Amino acid sequence: MIENTMTDQLVLAAQAARLLAYAPYSGYLVGAAILDSRGNIWTGCNVENISYGVSICAERSAICTMISSGEREICAVAVATRDGGTPCGLCLQTLLEFVRDPQKVQVVTVSDVGEPSVYVLGELIPHGFSSKDLRRT
Ligand code: THU
Repeated sequence: MIENTMTDQLVLAAQAARLLAYAPYSGYLVGAAILDSRGNIWTGCNVENISYGVSICAERSAICTMISSGEREICAVAVATRDGGTPCGLCLQTLLEFVRDPQKVQVVTVSDVGEPSVYVLGELIPHGFSSKDLRRT
């Protein structure tokens, strides 16, 4: 688990990233910040498209930035929305791909009002698809 000051920093980074969201169709702005195993913070926001299915979520946008910068291990995530929403299933599965132990990865959600909520990835996606499943056939 990460220290409180790091959680605060991640939350601030997610809130700042949220201001950059491009969400003219849903009006639901999302910012994400990821802490990697080397202490770097990577941010992303949702980027929508007139062809709705082309849109990408904030979390996966942050993951793409992290991976394309050469980092591979996610240690914690913060997500900022207006209502403190948790990451969608696609994003949870994508996060799972790059963590060592889902029970040790904090997922912090923060809304415009009120205190952040702290989860661990393993509780948000307890039965995600993994290499174990692939080997069962
Ligand atoms: N969205 C995210 O960015 N992350 C999530 O985990 C859930 C949803 C975005 C997608 C879309 O642009 C908007 O929120 C409404 O669904």
